[in-house]
Amino acid sequence: MKAFSYSQFHLTNRTVLLRVDYNIPLIKNKVADASKIKTSIPIIKFLLTKKCKIIIATHLGRPNGKIVNDLKLNAISSILKKLLPQEIIIKLNDCIGRDIKNKIEKAKNARIFLLENLRFYKEEEENNPAFAHSLANLAQIYINDAFSNSHRAHASMDAITHFLPSLTGPQLEKEVFYLSKALKPKKPAIWIMGGAKLDKVDLINQALKKSNKVLIGGALAFPFLKAKGYKVGMSKSDSNSTEIARKILKKFSARKLVLPLDFVVADSFKPNAKTSIVDYNKIGLNQMALDLGPKTIALFKKHLQSAKTVVWNGPLGYCEWAKFAQSTKEIGRFLGNLEVIKIAGGGETAEVINKFYLSHNFTHVSTAGGAALTFLSGKELPALKALEKNYKQFSKRKN
Ligand code: 3PG
Repeated sequence: MKAFSYSQFHLTNRTVLLRVDYNIPLIKNKVADASKIKTSIPIIKFLLTKKCKIIIATHLGRPNGKIVNDLKLNAISSILKKLLPQEIIIKLNDCIGRDIKNKIEKAKNARIFLLENLRFYKEEEENNPAFAHSLANLAQIYINDAFSNSHRAHASMDAITHFLPSLTGPQLEKEVFYLSKALKPKKPAIWIMGGAKLDKVDLINQALKKSNKVLIGGALAFPFLKAKGYKVGMSKSDSNSTEIARKILKKFSARKLVLPLDFVVADSFKPNAKTSIVDYNKIGLNQMALDLGPKTIALFKKHLQSAKTVVWNGPLGYCEWAKFAQSTKEIGRFLGNLEVIKIAGGGETAEVINKFYLSHNFTHVSTAGGAALTFLSGKELPALKALEKNYKQFSKRKN
């Protein structure tokens, strides 16, 4: 993508509005997973070396334009302070307005401000230009280091780029760099697709277009088996997904699909359910397939052995329960032996990879959910488009 990069722009002594994505799970007002905050630390440290005033902006949750106490950024501010113990971090109680502007203007350089949750204003999600202008008014430069929110055409992601020179941050650049490798892969390319829902038709179509093989696991396999006329017992599937699978199977490229040969089936939906292994065409009426079986794991490994690029989206079994996480873990570990490009992302993929300590086996694990799915599906991300437009607009002005 052609956009201004934080690394090429004159930033010394500037006031920078840094859009990050600190939209992270809070459990009883405590941050449950700080990895999104951690990934923003490099750009903050970089801006500090340039003596910038840094205004950090993020949303948290879906407060629908209202102030929700549980979605205030106090817990996030505490984590930020722990991660940057030497720095002065000022948590503000609003994100726009004269008061906020005065506080920032009066401060010395190399101070960090954390604005309050942007989504307390409905104008944020409405991509409202006046709200974006008020945000822009706080700073001289805008940096988007929130790839994982770049599928949202919101005021702090899109409209703001009409008012300030707008740069890509390092985390966003890294995501675009690696996820692009999935779309222009070294061949043979193999996509592993799992997860619970067949709502990612565009992604499957894209996988069929870009790869040599698509290995199907998780509950994604059942609509395909049903569409082929097999019984899946109590396994998760619905008629809509089966219809989608039927359409996909009609395509010429569907020959690239590799469906499971066998499953671990349970007699009930419980973590300690009695299990057995059955072939794909032998799932009993009262059985529920919750993980891939050993023949399928061996088959997937055989295919993966020949790959030069591997793209992984979605767990292969019901990983919430240890008993059904075997195929996900085994394939994840196996990838560690392959010296090829291995990209993972979208949905719960990063979560599951981190849960089983598999991330070192990948070239890149995207922290993004919806944004990674949108990008990998080959669709435009409004915030990236906005950065590209800004580049055109401001480079003209420079000349
Ligand atoms: C995410 O966590 O995927 C982004 O922050 C987007 O959040 P949203 O789905 O609430 O818009």
